[in-house]
Amino acid sequence: MKKIVIHKPGGYRQLVIEEHPDPAPGPGEVLIAVAAIGINYADCVTRMGLYASAKHYVGYPVTPGFEVAGTVMSVGAGITDLQAGTAVLAVTRFNGYSTQLVVPREQVFTLPPQLGMETAAGFPTVALTAWFALFELAHPHPGDRILVHSAAGGVGGMLVQLGIIAGCEVTGVVGASHKVAAVRQLGATAVIDKSATDLWKAAEASAPDGYDIILDANGVATLRQSYRHLAPVGKLVVYGFHSMLRTRDGVPGKLGLILDYLRTPRFSPFDLTTRNRSVLGFNLSFLFDRKTILATGMQQLLQWLQQGKLRPPAVTSYPFEAVAEAHRALESGQTVGKLVLTCGET
Ligand SMILES: NC(=O)c1ccc[n+]([C@@H]2O[C@H](COP(=O)([O-])OP(=O)(O)OC[C@H]3O[C@@H](n4cnc5c(N)ncnc54)[C@H](OP(=O)(O)O)[C@@H]3O)[C@@H](O)[C@H]2O)c1
Repeated sequence: MKKIVIHKPGGYRQLVIEEHPDPAPGPGEVLIAVAAIGINYADCVTRMGLYASAKHYVGYPVTPGFEVAGTVMSVGAGITDLQAGTAVLAVTRFNGYSTQLVVPREQVFTLPPQLGMETAAGFPTVALTAWFALFELAHPHPGDRILVHSAAGGVGGMLVQLGIIAGCEVTGVVGASHKVAAVRQLGATAVIDKSATDLWKAAEASAPDGYDIILDANGVATLRQSYRHLAPVGKLVVYGFHSMLRTRDGVPGKLGLILDYLRTPRFSPFDLTTRNRSVLGFNLSFLFDRKTILATGMQQLLQWLQQGKLRPPAVTSYPFEAVAEAHRALESGQTVGKLVLTCGET
């Protein structure tokens, strides 16, 4: 088997393709021949050496990757409900950038018939992230006004769709004009192109009384203003910090990181209570042990997918060997939907 290994944090050159012995499934585990791998911004952050759960659970060397689609090769002892040859998608805490992958049974799901391998590989992480942010943390009500930053991206596009499923009015924010049409197609009530207009003036025009829910993975660039634009009883969900990560050849500048860390707002409990606002945060990669979250979320998401209420993200594919190019593209901030790696013959 082949896998992509990061021996030490850094730029794109740290993504090294290596041959390793084929793995075998232990009791309760499934061995998958991987056809396609979803790429997440967190994989880039892992490469940069700044992803807390990569350090916590694995350290370096590390193989990034949270999601794959492929075919079951064999199953370990105790598994009777899945056979070799079944097409599946799976979530994994790291190791996804591999042509063969062993994962616990509960992290494997039968491929929905309408999804191809590449589309399936790009579905679970962003869908679960958006589902958790909205339904487990923010609890939207029909008619709520929601603001989604980076709305054309992987998680952002899912948030737009799930907000609409919840009966809310969704305003999507994008950082480049070529992304506007994609967010409109997802059904957003309004789209703000912050490269062409003043973001917060436009946000105020869309919701003069403020937003009931704002979903922000930018971090320092927008967090303070996101908080200010909450309506009473509004909730700000923080789930990433990508605006801190201005990189050169894939390596973030240390001084910029320190300054952005210091400039990132800290929220006062006195202000939260007086203004009736809440700030919520999460990182799913620390929650893999909460198995009911994963099961409940995937069951609901796959049902919406089958009912045609939810569309998987549009994917752009790169060959396994072009992983560096794919990371560079994702970090350019210009991509729409999801990027995936394809494994060819495995
Ligand atoms: N907490 C969790 O459990 C969890 C799980 C999954 C993902 N995430 C976070 O969710 C965010 C989105 O992840 P994703 O994989 O779906 O990526 P993505 O949204 O497809 O791509 C990142 C987008 O962020 C914006 N951006 C702003 N500053 C950027 C920078 N310096 N470098 C690159 N992009 C920048 C760009 O969109 P615009 O310019 O249009 O805003 C870009 O397209 C990331 O911050 C990720 O870490 C968190």
